[in-house]
Amino acid sequence: MHESVLLQEAVAALSIKADGFYVDGTFGRGGHSRVILESLSSDGRLLAIDKDCEAIKYADSTFGGDQRFLIDHGSFASIKAFVDSQGKLGQVDGVLLDLGVSSPQLDVADRGFSFLKDGPLDMRMNEREGETAADWLQNASQSDIRRVLWEYGEEKFSGLIAKKIVERREQAPFITTLDLANFIADIIPNKFHQKKHPATRSFQAIRMYVNNELGDIEEFLASILSVLKVGGRLVVISFHSLEDRLIKRFIKSEERGPKIPKNIPIMDIPRDPHFVSVGKAVKPTLKECEGNVRARSAVMRVAEKVAGNRMTLSYEASGNA
Ligand SMILES: C[S@@+](CC[C@H](N)C(=O)[O-])C[C@H]1O[C@@H](n2cnc3c(N)ncnc32)[C@H](O)[C@@H]1O
Repeated sequence: MHESVLLQEAVAALSIKADGFYVDGTFGRGGHSRVILESLSSDGRLLAIDKDCEAIKYADSTFGGDQRFLIDHGSFASIKAFVDSQGKLGQVDGVLLDLGVSSPQLDVADRGFSFLKDGPLDMRMNEREGETAADWLQNASQSDIRRVLWEYGEEKFSGLIAKKIVERREQAPFITTLDLANFIADIIPNKFHQKKHPATRSFQAIRMYVNNELGDIEEFLASILSVLKVGGRLVVISFHSLEDRLIKRFIKSEERGPKIPKNIPIMDIPRDPHFVSVGKAVKPTLKECEGNVRARSAVMRVAEKVAGNRMTLSYEASGNA
């Protein structure tokens, strides 16, 4: 079963109104959804989304009878279309994303996410679309493999691993998770095998690539303004520094308005902030991290949509105004 991270904190950050309309963009096994539903009256609504067919089945069997609950299969990147189909564009009170994979995805060997259990090298969250990890590794160029391992996994042996993968796949394609995990473990010198399995970084990187995880977040952020109502909350729990960076930069840039180069000779900068951040980044307590290893890398950020009235900031241009 999946143990939800920052469960109470995330739901509290949504600042739930009992009759509001909320979106849980990463249903998983419904840990957060359940607590959101507990705070809603019979007039409140929760729209949940997940890419994973097993998550959808679980949602149907667990919350299917609840009139306040609706689940859509697909990516939160399409949140605008999902919300529009409910006639709720610009009227959503809060959206939650709890990123990454769920424990059942990691635990079931057949899903191909685990480097500890043997299964088909799949790694797709949505088993109905896209390329499996095995297909990608078989067809990608050496430089693409190197780039993915480096950018998403910060794997310092990315160049060597990519080269060896391309040599080996000519003889025998990578089909199973343990084959790839053991192959990578043999490439990385023993003195660099630390506490984590040597294939951890590569598996994480391939998973992020196969599922277009950062691309989906970017697409989601591009539409969140049109989804939320003024006063609506965005709550995101990230587990990877690249995810958190996207969220942090988005909130900052929406808070500040457009950047104006320092040497432009204008006195007033028109500013049109769309979001304000609510509090600082929140991390799980030591106690939560001790009880749940997944929590250790979690960071939660919260922002609220604001009216977007044009504000004028006084700006002292350097010299020549
Ligand atoms: C960490 S789990 C969420 C756990 C959930 N909050 C709970 O408490 O049970 C992440 C879930 O989000 C889903 N997911 C990840 N990226 C997604 C995306 N772009 N669109 C929709 N679902 C996604 C995964 O399939 C997984 O089920």
